[in-house]
Amino acid sequence: MPEKKRLGVNIDHIASLRQLRKGNYPDLLEAARIVEGAGADGIVVHLREDRRHINDEDLRDLRKNITTHLNLEMSINPQIVSIALKTKPDQATLVPEKREELTTEGGLDIVSLKSRVKNTVNKLKSNGIMVSLFIEPNIYQVETAKSINADAVELHTGKYAQATNDEKGKELIQIIKAAQHAKKIGLSVFAGHGLDYKNAKLIAGIPEIEELNIGYSIITKAVFVGLENAVKEMLELIKSV
Ligand code: PXP
Repeated sequence: MPEKKRLGVNIDHIASLRQLRKGNYPDLLEAARIVEGAGADGIVVHLREDRRHINDEDLRDLRKNITTHLNLEMSINPQIVSIALKTKPDQATLVPEKREELTTEGGLDIVSLKSRVKNTVNKLKSNGIMVSLFIEPNIYQVETAKSINADAVELHTGKYAQATNDEKGKELIQIIKAAQHAKKIGLSVFAGHGLDYKNAKLIAGIPEIEELNIGYSIITKAVFVGLENAVKEMLELIKSV
């Protein structure tokens, strides 16, 4: 029997809602408890340099209170790296970051940023933090991830998610090839970005992919059905493949 896929739920946008009024609710820890209670395998947050949603205190509180797995998405900015080293998430996912973007656009180009990323990977790993690199599904990026000692790659599914029906097949093939190659050379393989209740199943069906990290679609569905139901529905979908 193939292993069941793990689901990491990104709760950044619970904090985005809170920041609309800069108040105390919705409460992030309550959200994390509901997500874990619904059966998710981990909590994902992105401490952005501009702190537009998650802030430093949120991160500390989550670290103390969550009972599953904390995956911190982060840039390679030295200040953020030093916060990660203090907080010690179970996993760090290195992502590119631009201030003006609405969400993470594209994977981290670890081919051109190789020495800086390598340095960050080493620092995090030597502090006991598992490191995943968020990259485009491309063989060169995968090879580079291995060469700089990453534990895992998270394949960016944004292009697949946005592709027209005619183009989806091509994007899916890129993801499958990158996943197969990554697994073959000894990396763990995750996927995420833009996945929703319609497009996640095909990605979950790729045998090499162990974990999906999903945020926006779950949090927005929660507005209508509640957070627990939204997480359970996604779990049913990806664990049934
Ligand atoms: N994985 C990574 C590395 C991301 O940066 C994001 C967005 O924060 C996600 C997954 C989740 O993407 P979405 O919110 O589109 O589901």
